[in-house]
Amino acid sequence: MSYFSYQNGNLHAENTPLSTIAQQFGTPTYVYSKAALADHFSAYADACTAGGRDPANTLVCYSVKSNSNLAVLQVLNQLGSGFDIVSGGELLRVLAAGGDPHKVIFSGVGKTRDEMRLALSHDILCFNVESIPELHRLNEVAGEMGKRAAISLRVNPNVDAKTHPYISTGLKDNKFGVAYEDALACYRTAAKLPNIDVTGIDCHIGSQLLDDTPLLEALDKVIELIDQLASEDIHLHHLDIGGGIGITYDDEKPVAVGAYLGRLFARIDAWRNEKYQGVPLKVMFEPGRSIVGNAGILLTEIQYLKYGVSKNFAVVDAAMNDLMRPAMYEAWHGVQTVSQQNPDASSHTYDVVGPICESGDWLARARELAVAEGDLLAFQSAGAYGMTMASNYNTRGRAAEVMVDGDQVHLIRKREEPIALFALESLLP
Ligand code: LLP
Repeated sequence: MSYFSYQNGNLHAENTPLSTIAQQFGTPTYVYSKAALADHFSAYADACTAGGRDPANTLVCYSVKSNSNLAVLQVLNQLGSGFDIVSGGELLRVLAAGGDPHKVIFSGVGKTRDEMRLALSHDILCFNVESIPELHRLNEVAGEMGKRAAISLRVNPNVDAKTHPYISTGLKDNKFGVAYEDALACYRTAAKLPNIDVTGIDCHIGSQLLDDTPLLEALDKVIELIDQLASEDIHLHHLDIGGGIGITYDDEKPVAVGAYLGRLFARIDAWRNEKYQGVPLKVMFEPGRSIVGNAGILLTEIQYLKYGVSKNFAVVDAAMNDLMRPAMYEAWHGVQTVSQQNPDASSHTYDVVGPICESGDWLARARELAVAEGDLLAFQSAGAYGMTMASNYNTRGRAAEVMVDGDQVHLIRKREEPIALFALESLLP
């Protein structure tokens, strides 16, 4: 179901017209639907409890990097989500949103000592360790603090996720995780370190996966490792299969979350019954895009229409600094006019571009639109990796963010004032 739909010819977020939001908060503005967030999260939560599965044996850790606005984290926290973080900054966000640090897992290849200290001081659930040097550093830092660090090793199962090369992470030439062949040796090392508790295993093979076959392939490889570890008396308590389920941007048909989790649990249950007398293993997930991607749009206003020799351009007030995905991955985002029809405009093919001084500053190419200057456009599927990847390039303040809840609109991030962008800078004496 879409939470952004036309009612009486006007595009709405839930029951709120986007034109009202533009009037009230200006453009560009990210608009999120609270109901969409809740619905997408419940696809995971429901599948985790289907068939009477004990909720204590699963944990969904929303991947904060996909959209880290405090209100988004707050909504997910209230729904019972844990959090997958990749920096100390993201941990501070989770705490500020009321999140429980005992439901936080910390991924990433470059954790600094300060970040480890911060995470240890809040007793996070687990560090997803990505290398041997990181393991030793974590052991040291935990020792200095008189603490023990719970870890899982991020294993790189060398499975092709069949997604964009920039967002594929599970192949052996990716920088992520510990190579599958080295994993056993790393676990043996970890098990001997005095300030490390080996608690789990994790992998994340990529993002925007449409099919769950590679994920189930990765699962099989992880299961094999868990068995090998058990035979060496290293017993794990959780298995974290990462995130990665894709969404529909255009006409993609991603696997449904419930169907994927069903297949995954079936394999895990069969394996646990066969080899471990049915003793469950906690299963964790790190979804980002599939929760927040289609819960948000980017609202922008057309500034100019330029008719050129070979192309027409609709210049809008959003740009690559606001929505980086087209410039970075040639990503496709749907474009909708906020007024379903503009009777005064004729239809043309446009590239929709921003005002930034780069030819790469385009948001959509070759779209048929009947629009006039001043019309509002909505870029669809912009809830994930939209605002979190925004920058201040060209000294552009980042967009405002609002959350719609029925016919209520809450400002959840003010538009950045340009003057604030250089407030941390100083002139030479
Ligand atoms: N866990 C780990 C360790 C990750 O690296 C990621 C995403 C996730 C979970 C969440 O994956 P998701 O469920 O959202 O697919 N900027 C790119 C996407 C980068 C993904 C990075 N890692 C984009 O805009 O498509």
